[in-house]
Amino acid sequence: MKAITLKSFGPPENMAIGDWEKPMPGQGEILVKVHATAVNRADTLQRQGKYPPPKGASEIMGLELAGEVESLGPDCKKWKKGDFVCGLLPGGGYAEYAIIHENLALPIPKGLTIAEAAAIPEVFLTAFQAIDWLAKLKQGEKILIHAGASGVGTAGIQIAREKGAEIFITASAGKHAICQQLGANHTIDYKSKAFEEEVHRFTQGRGVNVIVDFIAAPYFQQNLNALSFDGRMVMLALMGSPKTNSINLGPILRKRLKIMGSTLRARTLDYKIRLSEDLKNFAWPLFESGKLKPIIDTTFSWEDAAEAHHYMEANKNTGKIVLRIT
Ligand SMILES: NC(=O)c1ccc[n+]([C@@H]2O[C@H](COP(=O)([O-])OP(=O)(O)OC[C@H]3O[C@@H](n4cnc5c(N)ncnc54)[C@H](OP(=O)(O)O)[C@@H]3O)[C@@H](O)[C@H]2O)c1
Repeated sequence: MKAITLKSFGPPENMAIGDWEKPMPGQGEILVKVHATAVNRADTLQRQGKYPPPKGASEIMGLELAGEVESLGPDCKKWKKGDFVCGLLPGGGYAEYAIIHENLALPIPKGLTIAEAAAIPEVFLTAFQAIDWLAKLKQGEKILIHAGASGVGTAGIQIAREKGAEIFITASAGKHAICQQLGANHTIDYKSKAFEEEVHRFTQGRGVNVIVDFIAAPYFQQNLNALSFDGRMVMLALMGSPKTNSINLGPILRKRLKIMGSTLRARTLDYKIRLSEDLKNFAWPLFESGKLKPIIDTTFSWEDAAEAHHYMEANKNTGKIVLRIT
């Protein structure tokens, strides 16, 4: 089969479509003809040699897919050849064919295109895990979602909106309008304002109940200060920096804060299956009624994967970047 291969770790130009062995579905697995996948930051790190795939996962980049079931491994009962599915992968999406466990594959929500379905798994599962499973956001609570216009951010705003929360986001000013359309109540241009001060201004000093963070060290002190009593923060990335010198940890004690971290890729298969099933129960009716939308910034042909990686690395996207395989 054809797949996106790497000459060596390095810049986007090191990617090229080449030959790769077609995978064989094992027990409980299905082989999917990939119609579309999507770009994630993890792919750009993997391309640079900074984020190796977990043990046993495909060496090919690509954490999600949407496509058509091609064949079934032993004992597969859930799907048949020709069914259309989408789902989360530990790797292998940048290819003509990929393997996914039959219980991790989800039906494509009715009314959505293949490209839209490819834009769902990674960011909606990540945002749902952070907001619902980890932070346990409740109706009427206040949530601050950093990088609000990112793939995970645009999914998170919509999930928080459906849960009845008051939503604060940080993003570049040019990306605020889409965040407002999706349901953000307060938008903060982190480049011109200290978000901690804006949160306190909007909340009369009370702070927010939940924060979803991707920036880590440069935001850590402001995040602690912006959380309310019994506040919860989920850290999902280290985009700013992982290391910090002087932090006042007092707010963690004083305000009884919970600081959590998570990476989805390293979770067990069983965890990912339960999370996917739970997201399906919550989100599929909302996708099918048009209340939730996968937000796609741009769709590239996989022949232009290098351009797609440059686009993400320049922070140009609002929502997802999809790669069309066929
Ligand atoms: N832990 C997990 O399970 C998990 C799962 C999925 C993704 N992630 C991580 O979550 C992050 C977001 O992923 P994504 O695919 O949604 O990203 P994305 O769509 O590429 O968006 C990232 C956005 O973050 C903003 N940003 C970048 N650097 C920043 C900085 N230093 N300070 C403030 N804002 C910054 C930029 O928007 P502005 O123009 O608004 O600055 C950028 O467009 C990535 O780091 C990804 O690796 C983690």
